[in-house]
Amino acid sequence: MKDTELILAIESSCDDTSCAVLRGKQVLSNVVSGQDVHSAYGGVVPELASRAHQAHIVPVVTEALKKAEVSKDDLSAIAFTSGPGLMGSLLVGTSFAKSLSLALDIPLIDVHHMRAHVLAHLIEGDNLKNPEFPFLCLTVSGGHTQIVRVDSPLEMTVLGETIDDAAGEAFDKAAKLLGLPYPGGPEIDRRAALGNPDEITFSKPRVDNLDFSFSGLKTSILYTLQAKLKEDEAYVRDHMDDICAAVQNTIIDILMDKLVKATKQTGIHRVAIAGGVSANRGLRNRLNELSNKNNWELFLPPFEFTTDNAAMIGITGYFMWKAGQVADLSIAAKARMKL
Ligand code: KG4
Ligand code: ZN
Repeated sequence: MKDTELILAIESSCDDTSCAVLRGKQVLSNVVSGQDVHSAYGGVVPELASRAHQAHIVPVVTEALKKAEVSKDDLSAIAFTSGPGLMGSLLVGTSFAKSLSLALDIPLIDVHHMRAHVLAHLIEGDNLKNPEFPFLCLTVSGGHTQIVRVDSPLEMTVLGETIDDAAGEAFDKAAKLLGLPYPGGPEIDRRAALGNPDEITFSKPRVDNLDFSFSGLKTSILYTLQAKLKEDEAYVRDHMDDICAAVQNTIIDILMDKLVKATKQTGIHRVAIAGGVSANRGLRNRLNELSNKNNWELFLPPFEFTTDNAAMIGITGYFMWKAGQVADLSIAAKARMKL
């Protein structure tokens, strides 16, 4: 393959339908279509997600080709997310990618969604800073929380991961408990900036090694607030911003504790972050503080490449294709996959 060749990439693992066109490591277009249909339910409804993917995929691919100013006949390969994710959602992208590869007679590349979040850092372009190897990546999204050691585009090792809920899930569950709208992360982020995190304290889990646990946080919030409400029935209403600041701080403390440990254990000081939660302003501030204190080289990706998007699938496809890792039409989507 040449670096001038075009890859079309498709992402449909959860509730965003996305298509990107890359020329080598450069992104020509990256179109993402979200799904509002879930907000009424306070979480992603798998059956509705797969139906929405079916409705969105053709218009999204058409728009990505148009924005990139290329035709489908110019494409050299198709990359798509084969897992992990919601089965019905994955199937839509998988069958679309297979059909296109068959119709155009070009290679098909099956991409791991979590590897792609990490490799989004290798996209080249104006104002994009690419880490050298090895680097550490903290991936924090609605479905996953991992610290990964990256030795090359195709060599990654999970150093720690959540044993229950993901960090984004912890934000969303806390918000639901507080009666805030879904998705809760951005709303807690907004309110936290106005509150005092020291007004109230929630307990943190004790987990060995570099793994995380977030399921106890919801229980701690529930019991702590129940006790407060016994003394003052207007407590939650009067202190909503403070509670959000304390929830956010607790989640950040849990994440940063393990990230600092990982840098010490590995001696790697190049630190990257990925996934939807990396948009959190409190988390970004704390990372900047830690980076100054510990002399880290920090990589904070633009928002466009950190939430679910197809550009990250395209860059991963680029490295896999270069290494000869292509799939055939028997490839199947998988809800669960090891990194
Ligand atoms: O990566 P992502 O878009 O989708 C996947 O889960 O793969 O991540 C979505 C998650 C949701 O849980 C959402 O609440 C959280 O990212 N999130 C945030 C913020 N923006 C999105 N969490 C905290 N602060 C934010 N600003
Ligand atoms: Zn994701």
